[in-house]
Amino acid sequence: MSHLTGKHITLAVTGGIAAYKACELVRLLVKAGATVQVAMTEAACEFVRPLTFEALSGRAVYTDQFAGGMPHLALTRDQTDLLLVAPATANTIAKAAHGIADNLVTSVICGRNCPLAVVPAMNNKMWENPATQENIRRLKSWGVHVLGPATGELACHVNAAGRMIEPSEIVDYVSAILAPKVLEGKKVVVTAGPTYEALDPVRGLTNKSSGKQGYAIAKAAFEAGAEVILVTGPTALKAPTGVTVKRVESATEMLHRVTVHLKDADVFISVAAVADFRSARVAEHKIKKTDDDTVPSFDLVKNPDILATVALNYPDIYCVGFAAETQNVEAAAKEKLSKKGAKIIVGNLATDTFGKDTNTAVFVSAISVEEVPTCTKDELAEKLVSRIAQDLGVSDE
Ligand code: CTP
Repeated sequence: MSHLTGKHITLAVTGGIAAYKACELVRLLVKAGATVQVAMTEAACEFVRPLTFEALSGRAVYTDQFAGGMPHLALTRDQTDLLLVAPATANTIAKAAHGIADNLVTSVICGRNCPLAVVPAMNNKMWENPATQENIRRLKSWGVHVLGPATGELACHVNAAGRMIEPSEIVDYVSAILAPKVLEGKKVVVTAGPTYEALDPVRGLTNKSSGKQGYAIAKAAFEAGAEVILVTGPTALKAPTGVTVKRVESATEMLHRVTVHLKDADVFISVAAVADFRSARVAEHKIKKTDDDTVPSFDLVKNPDILATVALNYPDIYCVGFAAETQNVEAAAKEKLSKKGAKIIVGNLATDTFGKDTNTAVFVSAISVEEVPTCTKDELAEKLVSRIAQDLGVSDE
């Protein structure tokens, strides 16, 4: 279940060209299960008509402060989970930072009864203006979430900071804001994807891991409030919002990168399908076939076992491993638990999970075996994160 399911979000749209992207934002929030109540400034109505938002949100749009029923208060009362201002212009940000309430949206911001997130979108000169920067600092110091801006091509055709982050990223951040913060203050290192062990400059040994489960776990840990470092082998996946991503190829590089980031870490989650062997020698040039029947052969050497190494050398870090099997999942998970020194092994069928969006798993620890019925990789990730939080004694359950 998404953290947005059943949540009530008031979306305030202010007058910037990025207002057109707020339409997609409403669609994505509604698709994720949220109820979205839109309010617009007069300037926003110059860019997009309220009718568009009404159709997308399924609710009447507020544009008039004096329409009756005190909308400036009603719009963030009654279980509103978040007031989201997207796009937020320099003007609205300035007013929010000074308690000015001179239109419907700024009055809603001033009189709100829920957390506030602003998504700046403006020309780079306006963004860099010391007044805007000071206003952003003030808002942050009051606990306001500031999402973005991104650097990219602006409406005025310059490439600079000030662009509104994409609607899908806003949804990721909103989901993170609304998720229970069971790993707040914790640092989590996750590995994901396959590793690639070169044979020559163009060929290598790898496997069919997509990285989806590891990326989902990194995202869930970030949503739970952790600082997350994702060390990933080659994948085609987009970096999860809010997560620091370090890309590597081989198992040796992965171990090195993990070790660099383990300082002060609380949790290590080893999801990567690490190649167990690599070629003893990597040919300097592409290996050519010959005209006769001789074929090349490769001497393999063992790769380091990253999980076992971390569990052995960092006894204070809570280590979680995976067991990707083709049979006898639970037995293999139990064996790997003691062999690798992990606190939990998540057992699953490689044939069921590699490349797919769902997973069926079992959490095996020294004292329990917990079956996790088939669910999406995001759901499995959330279950694993709450299980880790419970074991660390920081769960809010
Ligand atoms: N693992 C690791 N380093 C390796 C091999 C595996 O860190 N060189 C980790 C994986 O990330 C996973 C766990 O160990 O968390 C189990 O990986 P798996 O591939 O299922 O098992 P192996 O240990 O490789 O054993 P086998 O291939 O014989 O099943």
